[in-house]
Amino acid sequence: MSQKVAVLGTGKIGEALLSGMIRAGWAPSDLLVTARRPERAEELRARHGVTPVSNAEAAKTADTLILTVKPQDMGTLLGELAPHVPADRLIISGAAGIPTSYFEERLAPGTPVVRVMTNTPALVDEAMSVISGGTHATDDHLAHAEEIFGAVGKTLRVPESQQDACTALSGSGPAYFFYLVEAMTDAGILLGLPRDKAHDLIVQSAIGAAVMLRDSGEHPVKLRENVTSPAGTTISAIRELENHGVRAALIAALEAARDRSRELASGSN
Ligand SMILES: NC(=O)c1ccc[n+]([C@@H]2O[C@H](COP(=O)([O-])OP(=O)(O)OC[C@H]3O[C@@H](n4cnc5c(N)ncnc54)[C@H](OP(=O)(O)O)[C@@H]3O)[C@@H](O)[C@H]2O)c1
Repeated sequence: MSQKVAVLGTGKIGEALLSGMIRAGWAPSDLLVTARRPERAEELRARHGVTPVSNAEAAKTADTLILTVKPQDMGTLLGELAPHVPADRLIISGAAGIPTSYFEERLAPGTPVVRVMTNTPALVDEAMSVISGGTHATDDHLAHAEEIFGAVGKTLRVPESQQDACTALSGSGPAYFFYLVEAMTDAGILLGLPRDKAHDLIVQSAIGAAVMLRDSGEHPVKLRENVTSPAGTTISAIRELENHGVRAALIAALEAARDRSRELASGSN
């Protein structure tokens, strides 16, 4: 029996997921989508061959509902869904910062809920998606969420209590690397390079370093030591990074992101 999956609120993340699922082998005829604007719904049908439906129709028809609206729109969406979702449907939330208890309180008793925090590299199939189950989610439900989000990158199961820390590391993570590239490109300009050349040098160095970190099996300290020769150029740069407290700044920055994620999850603005 084919399992119908509906993506509700198909924006940037929802569409990335949808197209990843189709490339991974899901039949478009088993995929339903909802959108707020009719022209957006038609765009999704034309691009992916999926079926646009209303939120209520998706709730009645699909076995798995993936909710990818912005956190501030989740209350309205759940209000539309709640009267129609049978308690045996799996709810997967992709919204940052909303705990599984929020869904459990608003849906029929016993509804399984899985919370996923992905990140923007989902757009290029290099996501890091962190997955946690609510009170009624079984191992099979978590495996199903892993299969879906595995279509756009890596997945990792964590207890829900670690979701705020994961949001700080991987949810916001790509932004820190964009920021580093921006700052290093500025440094290239200071050193007399044109911006486009500086950008290319830094981006390719970032890609090379990322692939080595992923594939070499070496600890980052070892990889850095390999390019840090005695009295050489790299150690001169590292000394300045230490003098300017970059390591301490990163630790404090991620702690601040974790704390903000906790605040948002508890409902404060
Ligand atoms: N982008 C990221 O960096 C990122 C990373 C990780 C997780 N997330 C999470 O992923 C979720 C989606 O983010 P996004 O960047 O993909 O947002 P987005 O592009 O704004 O997508 C959300 C979509 O939901 C639609 N929508 C809103 N209310 C609706 C309703 N009641 N029924 C049907 N459709 C509705 C919106 O319609 P309109 O087009 O009319 O507004 C929009 O197309 C968020 O919860 C976010 O926390 C995002």
